[in-house]
Amino acid sequence: MAWFDHYGRHDLPWQHPATPYRVWVSEVMLQQTQVATVIPYFERFMAQFPSVESLASASVDQVLALWSGLGYYARGRNLHKAAQVIVRDFMGQLPKNAPDLMSLPGIGQSTAHAILSLAYQQPTAICDGNVKRVLARWLALPLPIETKEAQERLWQVADELQSRARPGAYTQAIMDLGATLCTRTKPRCEQCPLAQDCAARKSDQRVTSWPLRQAKASKSVHAVNLYCYMSADGAIWLEAPQQQTGIWGGLYQLPQAPLSDSKESFTLLSPIKHVFTHQLWHITPHVVVMTHKAHEKQLSNNGLWYNPNQINQSVARPAVVDKLLKYWALHQGSLL
Ligand code: ADE
Ligand code: SF4
Repeated sequence: MAWFDHYGRHDLPWQHPATPYRVWVSEVMLQQTQVATVIPYFERFMAQFPSVESLASASVDQVLALWSGLGYYARGRNLHKAAQVIVRDFMGQLPKNAPDLMSLPGIGQSTAHAILSLAYQQPTAICDGNVKRVLARWLALPLPIETKEAQERLWQVADELQSRARPGAYTQAIMDLGATLCTRTKPRCEQCPLAQDCAARKSDQRVTSWPLRQAKASKSVHAVNLYCYMSADGAIWLEAPQQQTGIWGGLYQLPQAPLSDSKESFTLLSPIKHVFTHQLWHITPHVVVMTHKAHEKQLSNNGLWYNPNQINQSVARPAVVDKLLKYWALHQGSLL
């Protein structure tokens, strides 16, 4: 705690003020995304949806548009659903106990406990990936992190260590330690307040040997063609969402086949790799820039022209769309 008071993070946007709603939204955004990436998304989200009520009464499209590029879109859909449940069943107040919080979509035990400790000052323990890494090293835990035994032990230790006096500060402290000192690949043990009694540090192995891992399954590999129809003014044709679930569920997408009524010749770019948690995609982009105004009308029944240069047009799209637009811009640069 003394380390945290000096070196911890005290200026994160969701700390000022740390209302239950703001802490909840930030924790969900931070579940799979780094702080630096989350900050601008969080600020935009709060500007548009300053309260549970405003989030609950938005459309899912509005929510996903603000989520574009953050990834793991189920988080955005769940946040929206949960806001509606909070308004309907909890009088617009985030529940103050773990079982009710965990009954909401998208809130697991660690997120529930983060909300209770950070926003309500209850001494509940968090045990997310960062905390597990710190504790597994501090204990030199001799069990693969994926095992039930390891998980139970880590939760038990996290629970014992939580501060009864300053629960919110403790939660932030252990997360900050994991994020800034006990990092995955380059831990700064010399600066660590736990160095004196850290079992990994005292062992004759590298501290990065922990957490121990089971041999992991490899990613499945997929290939797909994507067709980028571009208008002369830089807009790109996106198809309306075809399903609500899956990695690109609920998002506008690039066509995966040429649109039947077009006879353009495409510029074939070399394939790019796009990595998801359990999948590796080889994407072959086919680009055509449409020169005739006539071609800039609807290309099919179901879609729209998305213009990234028009800042007030927000469309929920996969991150790969922006990646391809950048890639194309670079490619054009190399042709000049
Ligand atoms: N990761 C998850 N929650 C966090 C928080 N409150 N601050 C920084 N990183 C986090
Ligand atoms: Fe992590 Fe090193 Fe601190 Fe141990 S001493 S908790 S390995 S940073």
